[in-house]
Amino acid sequence: MKTRKVLEDFDAYGWETPTREIATEVGLEPEQIVRLDTNTSPYRPDAAMRTLARLLPKVGVNDYPDTSYHGLAEGISRYTGKGLDRLVVTNGADEGLDITTKVFVDQGDEVIIPTPTYSMYRIGAQLMGAKVKAVPRGPDFELQADKVLEAVGPRTSLIFLCNPNNPTGNYSPIEEVERIVRESGVGVLLDEAYFEMCGKTAIDLTDKYENLIVCRTMSKAFSMAGVRVGYLVAKARTVEVLNKVRPPNSLSVLSVILGEAGFSHLDEMRRHVRATVRERGRLFVELRKMKGRLTAFPSETNFILIRPEGARADDVQKRLMKKGLVLRNLSKVRGAENCLRCTVGSAETNARLVTELKEILGA
Ligand SMILES: Cc1ncc(COP(=O)(O)O)c(C=O)c1O
Repeated sequence: MKTRKVLEDFDAYGWETPTREIATEVGLEPEQIVRLDTNTSPYRPDAAMRTLARLLPKVGVNDYPDTSYHGLAEGISRYTGKGLDRLVVTNGADEGLDITTKVFVDQGDEVIIPTPTYSMYRIGAQLMGAKVKAVPRGPDFELQADKVLEAVGPRTSLIFLCNPNNPTGNYSPIEEVERIVRESGVGVLLDEAYFEMCGKTAIDLTDKYENLIVCRTMSKAFSMAGVRVGYLVAKARTVEVLNKVRPPNSLSVLSVILGEAGFSHLDEMRRHVRATVRERGRLFVELRKMKGRLTAFPSETNFILIRPEGARADDVQKRLMKKGLVLRNLSKVRGAENCLRCTVGSAETNARLVTELKEILGA
């Protein structure tokens, strides 16, 4: 079988192990496993679910969705303050990344990615046949605009910025982002998947710069990772090009209803975000008490990056897993060596995590 050359020895996405498999491996029931490795919300979007339940008997599942996703797009427009001609509705942020990469990146181009960061940027770029130039973040994981700009060459077509950044959790000043957009002149994809948890955004820069595309999702703050709704925001002329690449029916009719309902119940989302931010603060204080045994990095997201000191992250992760707590292991990620990433869970889950970590690390 002949497949594309780029797929030989390809470093594919590190799929999360299914809960069922983890449960079997550690001898627990699937219900006893708590996923703290996917940065999702522990809270349910009840108001939107009630809307879906009410509309369900009449949903036209025999038809394709309205390809303009009109009601949902109106909700996004109200939420972002940008017109309908400034938006592209996507199947999660991942499809937004995919569309953007296809718009900007040709075979043989260079794509710049400050690292460590979300792996799908590299994967999408490499799949288009591009060469990825990784620009390491600074000692405190800060974005180094100078270094990013130095890396721009004649073949550079796209720069990925994640703000706040996954997996480090830190936010880079908007001025740094704007400098990169202005001075590079190439496509800049700014991923704001975690924007609600930090409250700061560069979305208004899309009023000014044609080469900036902001990518967002309902997977995190809106508690809808399973629904698969995201969106891109850019200047109207850029949106026209993005629409050339957008597949016509990538959202299900059920996702459209839930997404639209999510934007009609912003109060619920904001309550959940406040709870997450409060819990993040509490968890961070507890983790910091383990200083010497564990380093916790400040976060403006719904997760915290931690590094065990004097213990192997692999071992810590395995021992937590035996207790039913699943963290993301980043030990092999350059720039995040020996680190684990834990989602901020409910108060009860976080307390459990702290207790287990103290025991494992002898803190
Ligand atoms: C930075 C970042 N961008 C995009 C995504 C993908 O989001 P979605 O579920 O909307 O595809 C994630 C998911 O974890 C993420 O961390």
